[in-house]
Amino acid sequence: MSDCYDLDPTDRQWPAESEPWSRLRPLHWVWRLITDQIEVTSVDLPVRRLPSEFYGLVACQASDFHVDSEADLHRLQQAVRIINGQSPDLVFLTGDYFSDCKSMWRYIGEFRQALGELKPPLGVFAIAGNHDHSLSFWTIAQALRNSGACVLANENHSLELKGSRLFIVGVDDLWSDRARPSCAFRGVQPDDCTILLVHNPDAAPYVRHLKPGVMLSGHTHGGLIRIPVYGSPVRSFLRIGRQFYSGLNRYKDFYIYTNRGLGAFPLSLRINCRPEVSLFKLTGWPRDMQIEKSRAARVEATGLRIRSSPLLT
Ligand SMILES: [Fe+2]
Repeated sequence: MSDCYDLDPTDRQWPAESEPWSRLRPLHWVWRLITDQIEVTSVDLPVRRLPSEFYGLVACQASDFHVDSEADLHRLQQAVRIINGQSPDLVFLTGDYFSDCKSMWRYIGEFRQALGELKPPLGVFAIAGNHDHSLSFWTIAQALRNSGACVLANENHSLELKGSRLFIVGVDDLWSDRARPSCAFRGVQPDDCTILLVHNPDAAPYVRHLKPGVMLSGHTHGGLIRIPVYGSPVRSFLRIGRQFYSGLNRYKDFYIYTNRGLGAFPLSLRINCRPEVSLFKLTGWPRDMQIEKSRAARVEATGLRIRSSPLLT
């Protein structure tokens, strides 16, 4: 299920009448329409070993902002408004916030300000992408922290609800050779439930032995050009398979969700591949749900027995 949101028309930067390329205005308008219409993708996210207390929790994911122009900044601001409109409990940001140093220094203040508007009750969690390490990730991480986000660079953070725990684990970027999955999972027990944030879906083979509950990624931009049924014609650069370019896919014994991102790189072009905000409702795996159901049934049956016991009446 998905909804589409267009940019506020007042956010659109039109070329001035006097500019020589103003005749290209209709083309520019179509291009902005294609690249700015954010799709909200609603997904029931299957999380292995999810404690029942966390069932139904709502989380949003945004990725690959690539804030390199005013248009990209407006798209980010629009995405923040959309996320706030969904009233999520958690927000995940999965890297590649800018493409180069010049745009980072130009937009870092507005980037921090935009993300500061996110106020989910259980927190905003952010990781680095490959582009962030070719810039100054220290500067970006500082801006993320100042906006109220928790930056996870090979670290984890535990959330507690009615005595049950859920770990948010952030693994650093694979291509930058900074991914240290074992460090990221330090203190997490094999039976604990985890939501793993990794920018690149190709990190999956390196984290599988740590038994993540689910993995959230970005990096691919959905392939940017998508042909119905066939998918992206772009030659896959993912080693784990073309299907992991976007959406929810099962990898061995856990699921990976790949967000299509908000921005685009190297070309600011998208065809049949809208920018995305993912909206997750956390659910257990079918087997987990079976166990939960039988546990609930046992408790219910015991309760009934106690209530109907003649010794207690
Ligand atoms: Fe990216």
